[in-house]
Amino acid sequence: MQLTVEQLFDHLWQQYIQINPQANKIQKLLQARGERVINDHIALRTFNTEKLGIMKIAAPFLDKGYKIVEDYDFTKKKLNAVHLEHEFDINHPKVFISELRTELFSENLQNVIAEIDAQIDPANVMQELFITSGRTWNLTFEQYIQLLRESEYAAWTAAFGYRANHFTVSLNHLTTFFQLEDLNEFLIENGFVLNESAGLIKGTPEQFLEQSSTMAAPVNVQFDHSTQPIPGCFYEFAKRYPLPEIGRLYQGFIAASADKIFESTNS
Ligand code: NI
Repeated sequence: MQLTVEQLFDHLWQQYIQINPQANKIQKLLQARGERVINDHIALRTFNTEKLGIMKIAAPFLDKGYKIVEDYDFTKKKLNAVHLEHEFDINHPKVFISELRTELFSENLQNVIAEIDAQIDPANVMQELFITSGRTWNLTFEQYIQLLRESEYAAWTAAFGYRANHFTVSLNHLTTFFQLEDLNEFLIENGFVLNESAGLIKGTPEQFLEQSSTMAAPVNVQFDHSTQPIPGCFYEFAKRYPLPEIGRLYQGFIAASADKIFESTNS
C-alpha cells in the first residue's frame, strides 16, 4: 500500500517534532489563536553519492504528483538543490532537497561519507519511508566534529540522517498575522530564539520572499561511544509576495536567504 501525500508528510512531521518539540509548541500556540497552519515547504538534506543523491530523495514525491520546478547552486556551502511542487494541489507544501557536493571536500570528509554510504542498503533507499529512516549508520562524535570543521551541513546530515530538516509555516495562510515582523515578535514574546544571521528577516518584498526561523535547539544524540548535545532542527516562517503582471505568489527560493537560513543549525 502506497502512502498518500498527506500520510507521508504526517510521518515526516511526527519524526520532526520528536527532536524539535518547539515546532509543535508554536503550531499549538497558533492554533490557539484560531489559525490553521499550512506548510510553505519542507527541506531535506542528503549527500550527492550515486546511492543517496537528490533524485533518490525526490523519488517518493515524484511518485505522488510532485515535479521538479527549479534547481539551485549554493557555491559557498558547496550544495546543489532543487525544489518540487505538487502538480495539482498548491496547498501541498513545496519540497526543497539539497545535496552536499562531497568531491569538493577533503579526503577525510569524503572517507566518512563513503563509510556512511557503504552502510546503506540500496533496496532501503527505494522504500518511500527511507526519507524518515533517521540515522542507520555508525558515527563517532570525533567523526561528527571532523565533518563540522569543514561543513555544518555534512555534520548535521551525518548525525541525524534522513528526516525533515525543517518545516515552514506559510504566513500567507495565517489570518491573525500579516507581517513577518509581527509573527517574529509574537514568537520572541513567547520565549523562542530566532536566527539573527543577517537580521531576523532574510529577503525583501522586492525579492518576493521573506523568511525567518527559530534557532535549532540542542538534541542529545547517541554517537558510537558517547551521547552529546548538538543542534537539531529548526522551524521556518515564510511570506511570499505576488509577482507583477502574473499576480500569482512567487514560489521559488532566494539562494542568498537560504544560505543564511542554513545557519539555523549552527552550533
Ligand atoms: Ni526553508
